[in-house]
Amino acid sequence: MEPENDMQPPWRVLKLVVPEMVSDSLQGILLEMGALGLQIIDDETRSIPDHEVPPSDQAELLSTFSNEEGLEARVMARLGAVFQQIPGCESIEVSWHDLFHEDWVAEFKSHWQPLQLGKNIYVIPSWHEASYRLGSPTDLPIYLDPGMAFGTGLHATTALCAEALQAHLEQSPIRQLLDVGTGTGILSIIALKLGAQFALGTDIDPVAVHNALENAAKNEVFDHFEANDKLPDQRGSVHDVVVANILFKPLIGLAPHIAQSIASGGTLYLSGLLQSQESDIRDAYEAQGLSHVRTATKDEWILVQFEKR
Ligand SMILES: C[S@@+](CC[C@H](N)C(=O)[O-])C[C@H]1O[C@@H](n2cnc3c(N)ncnc32)[C@H](O)[C@@H]1O
Repeated sequence: MEPENDMQPPWRVLKLVVPEMVSDSLQGILLEMGALGLQIIDDETRSIPDHEVPPSDQAELLSTFSNEEGLEARVMARLGAVFQQIPGCESIEVSWHDLFHEDWVAEFKSHWQPLQLGKNIYVIPSWHEASYRLGSPTDLPIYLDPGMAFGTGLHATTALCAEALQAHLEQSPIRQLLDVGTGTGILSIIALKLGAQFALGTDIDPVAVHNALENAAKNEVFDHFEANDKLPDQRGSVHDVVVANILFKPLIGLAPHIAQSIASGGTLYLSGLLQSQESDIRDAYEAQGLSHVRTATKDEWILVQFEKR
């Protein structure tokens, strides 16, 4: 058999070492350029409870891209233009390396630790399931195997959506959740574990659809979950709650389909958006007849809530 390193790597990883103040803006741009995953190592992730670690004000952004022809030229041309516009980008370190499947799994497993979302939700990598012990009987563990799908709970936008769904379920039930851009299925699984009756996850990535179904089975909510790659309004206006954590551009394109999928009186939570995109996203969804309710913020990311009257 050929040694693996003679083969084309499936992914290339771009490493940027950047001033922390520009980290959130760059994360949005990297995702827009097609990054499949982002790993962020900054003062927050480096901190150790009860130990003082001097702040570095530097963040490392590791973004994984499919290894397609012309990738580096395309990404570097866009970043070059962005670096000129954002103050603080003069001294950014840039490097690229190959990523093979085995490396990715090993790398991911070494970094991904259990993490808390919302009040009492703990996202546990499935390989920690056997050794994980609940801290309190009210803890809600969600076991996820991320495969290559996005949605590990590590991103601020996933946390914003999980918190919104938990707060929603404390006020009123969810009968038919639609989770657009389901990724690992994390948001559907959290909602179902917290009492939602049914969830439909959709994703344009077939790997994500498969991974979400597997994770639903792992968390014993499979009977209440379906996933496919169809448009959000595939079942008509039946969903009392819709959550879509994608990115600005696809959310603009999907606006008529998402608006159409919501039942009268229903709620929409949109995330994957930067603060600078709030007014454009509000315009696009208000033009579909939805009313803005509130906007929540975490770092530079936002969640925008609408209702359909
Ligand atoms: C940021 S991830 C969110 C994953 C998960 N829902 C979470 O909150 O962590 C966005 C997901 O949206 C999917 N996606 C991107 N564009 C889409 C589109 N037009 N329709 C449906 N899904 C899309 C991606 O494949 C990816 O799995």
